[in-house]
Amino acid sequence: MKDFSTKLLQWHSAHGRRGLPWQNEKDPYKVWISEIMLQQTQVATVKERYLQFVQTFPSLKDLAKANSDEVMGLWAGLGYYTRARNLHACAKVIEQKYDGNFPNEASTLSTLPGIGKSTASAIAAFCFNQKISILDANVKRLLGRIYAVEDDLKKTVTHEYLWKIAQDLLPKTSSDMPAYTQALMDYGATVCTPRNPHCQGCVFKKGCLAYEQDIVDQIPKKVKKVSIKEVQSVMLCILAKDQLLLHRRPPSGIWGGLWSLPESAWTENVDLQDLTDALNDFQNLPLDILRRALPKAKFMAPRKHVFTHRVLYFQIGILKVHQPFEIDNADFKWVNKIEVQELGLPTPVKQFIQDYWSINSL
Ligand code: ADE
Repeated sequence: MKDFSTKLLQWHSAHGRRGLPWQNEKDPYKVWISEIMLQQTQVATVKERYLQFVQTFPSLKDLAKANSDEVMGLWAGLGYYTRARNLHACAKVIEQKYDGNFPNEASTLSTLPGIGKSTASAIAAFCFNQKISILDANVKRLLGRIYAVEDDLKKTVTHEYLWKIAQDLLPKTSSDMPAYTQALMDYGATVCTPRNPHCQGCVFKKGCLAYEQDIVDQIPKKVKKVSIKEVQSVMLCILAKDQLLLHRRPPSGIWGGLWSLPESAWTENVDLQDLTDALNDFQNLPLDILRRALPKAKFMAPRKHVFTHRVLYFQIGILKVHQPFEIDNADFKWVNKIEVQELGLPTPVKQFIQDYWSINSL
């Protein structure tokens, strides 16, 4: 788009947001604090809390030497507390590694704890006039609409495509970078908004491909969040001296065909406290064995395994028997410690067996 930066800067001098306490700030320490607070917190809340924070810790040195309880206390109520832990860690790194001086390049800033690429660019543009674009969700939406990018804006390829566009649109003069960066943020927040964007008054209306094609409300593409289902299961770790009983899972489904511990079906409501229900569900483990095994098994704390669309909580019962018993089914076998290493077990099950054997030798 022609004259993008000129139009944006003109719009900003007439209509940009005013009165934000971190505006026109040049101290990278203060800009950094405001950008981190603004990541997941509303501007109105940040306005108050930012001032309180920089009054308590006026410089990087003050923050670096603060007690972590004090930092966390000052963050109370803002949520996403990893931000506060990273803030404190980052202050210490800058003190130690950079002699207390903020790096002035986005590529160095983004290596610091809690500073992502867009935040690094914001600090470098606001404080050091670096010609580098921010690319947060607001900017992606604005550019995504102007260039009619109908694909998911969160994908790496679309992100990279928009990144190149954003770099090409930067103003020529580096001293314009602070106002330009704030203007990009303000435009996305007040004109090119997620819902009911103000297209009529938009300075980019002419030339906005999404507006021309009447698809503004379809960008950014709404990507359905897949719901994550929680399921539970009970597994048995039956040990006979140096032998462990394994079961080969059915060929299809998750972990299809892998050797694993004998296991109940995965359901959404196995009560891990009351295992009688699980009795009927065990895949192929002879019922008489199961009846004897379950009441005597010593159950470990449930473990969690996260799949893409599912979370499995599995509880393993340990049962020690004197001798390996026969099971007339080729999908069961007794193996020793070495043989187990050679089989393709599901990762969390293998992990459990390794953990167990490292503490309790068979
Ligand atoms: N969101 C992230 N950074 C911001 C800033 N500097 N001003 C207003 N909103 C923001």
